[in-house]
Amino acid sequence: MSTPTDAQRMEKIVSLCKRRGFIFQSSEIYGGLNGAWDYGPLGVELKRNLKNYWWHVTVHERDDVVGMDGSILTHPAVLQASGHVEGFSDPMVDCRLTGKRFRADQIPTQSGTIFSFQFARDAIPPPESFSALVHIAAPHLQADKSVSLDDAFKIALLVNERTNLGLQTPANDPESVLKFFLDLGHKLSTSSDVSVAELGEEFGTNYASNPIVSGDQFRVLIGDSENEAKARKKAKKLAQEFYRKRGLRFPVVDLLSTQPIENTRDFNPENGAELTQPRPFNLMFKTNVGAMEDESSIAYLRPETAQSIFVQFKNILEVSRKKLPFGIAQIGKAFRNEINPRNFTFRSREFEQMEIEYFCRADQGMELLEYWKEERLRFYENIGIPRSKLHVLTVPDEERAFYSKGTYDIEYEFPFGRQELEGVAYRTDYDLSQHQKASGKSLEYFDEETKQRFVPHVVEPSAGVDRTVLALICEAYSEDQAPDEKGKMETRILLRFHPRIAPVKCGVFPLLKNNSQLVAKAKEIVGLLRPHMTVFYDESGAIGRRYRRQDEIGTPFGVTVDFETLGEKDPGLRDTVTLRDRDSMKQERVAIQNLPAMLRERIG
Ligand code: GAP
Repeated sequence: MSTPTDAQRMEKIVSLCKRRGFIFQSSEIYGGLNGAWDYGPLGVELKRNLKNYWWHVTVHERDDVVGMDGSILTHPAVLQASGHVEGFSDPMVDCRLTGKRFRADQIPTQSGTIFSFQFARDAIPPPESFSALVHIAAPHLQADKSVSLDDAFKIALLVNERTNLGLQTPANDPESVLKFFLDLGHKLSTSSDVSVAELGEEFGTNYASNPIVSGDQFRVLIGDSENEAKARKKAKKLAQEFYRKRGLRFPVVDLLSTQPIENTRDFNPENGAELTQPRPFNLMFKTNVGAMEDESSIAYLRPETAQSIFVQFKNILEVSRKKLPFGIAQIGKAFRNEINPRNFTFRSREFEQMEIEYFCRADQGMELLEYWKEERLRFYENIGIPRSKLHVLTVPDEERAFYSKGTYDIEYEFPFGRQELEGVAYRTDYDLSQHQKASGKSLEYFDEETKQRFVPHVVEPSAGVDRTVLALICEAYSEDQAPDEKGKMETRILLRFHPRIAPVKCGVFPLLKNNSQLVAKAKEIVGLLRPHMTVFYDESGAIGRRYRRQDEIGTPFGVTVDFETLGEKDPGLRDTVTLRDRDSMKQERVAIQNLPAMLRERIG
């Protein structure tokens, strides 16, 4: 189901991310590397907070899950057995006009009229035809092999003038130019001057019978919104561009037919040009390990973290001495050569995953699938993504991997539409069985109680770190009205991060930077809080502006040291500060000594 999109909101988010140092385009100063992103000082804190919290609730808080950290370089046999070498591909199509590549399954359906062009011929005579014309125009000159459109006209017009043919200078379109040259050949061949007539005949025959042609067929889709004349013009223009790219300098296109069509995916949604037939495109990055660059040294950058968990299953089972059901968790980089990286970091070529492979008996699979779906939904709520913005899609039978008995996609309402954050899949015993078969090593589990040996089944919650970071930023982005220094209302931009994942937890501000007592006290508070949380000290600018700067990066708490802290007005307020809440902007008076515990509790 589609949800409303908000491109403007997304633009503001992307701009804030760059402005405040959350996310930058990779290799930006060299024009950028498509599909790769660098996290700046705040982005890396946010990402770490997310990963640490996931690790904490998944591994540290549980007895039944252990962690691992596998290598990114992967033996081809692993990915052969898992099916990635053969089948980890997306259907790819290319625009026949621009060469731009798309994922076939992401092309939207379109309706309109198809204009089919059969071939095109060049209105400019081939260079060899010109020798006859050059001869007429200037008998002492040799024709140049590469005659440009300009030169061709100059020569033809010169001939037209010299021989008093009286032809009109053609309009700047291929059809007029074609007609001009045909007429020129014809008129010259009937000249009373025998040598001109001979050369004219030679030129005319050559031009008519040996044109430069392209026999490539080409189709264009023009949407229903255009009227017929405009649609034709537009289609012709695209076709001319197509044939120009095939070497014709001034193509006269041959329109074979027009045909109305509904719901087709055969055309480039950006320009209407025909797409190639879909063909599979393997998404894995291949590399070579060691000094030799041949078949024997091929390795892959892993396309998911899951496979190293399966491959290390036996080792981890032995060392951890866990009993079923138990899980192995991993956070790490994965790489996919996505055809169309897009929507900021949402679809990247390098990204991180947080995956759990939760091994169990066959009869526990479906129940654990439900259990993990609920656990994962709870996780998102605990980091500030409300349940109302999350959707659980039951992946239908025909779209599920053939070995999976049940798969859920957890989706979030991004500003660019509802999209997958995480997949939770019951993958049966497929993965371990595949590796057992391919490696010849037993990956069986021995049940002490029943004395049975069997290959465990697995339920896999697989989440994307970068996608979750993006969801967190999208969810947190907010604008409201707040008074400025002079009490005038202005738009305030803020990130309403859950304190648990906010990159900076507390801003500390001395009211005045040129008062040494205020500054010393504020620095003392920084020292007090720093062992417990990330703190940002800021003494520059008006206090309101300092609050705004922290609001914009999502700092949930602000502590201001003022003259009351020094006990100047009321000794009872000595060593107290104002604690400001980012979202409500409410301020409360708090004793400095209570700050660490109070904030720790609110951070959660
Ligand atoms: N082991 C199962 C697996 O990898 P997946 O649905 O292909 O399943 C799991 O990937 C998660 O990894 C996705 O839900 C998404 O959050 C993240 N992910 C996948 N491809 C991604 C990409 N190109 N860019 C960013 N995140 C991606």
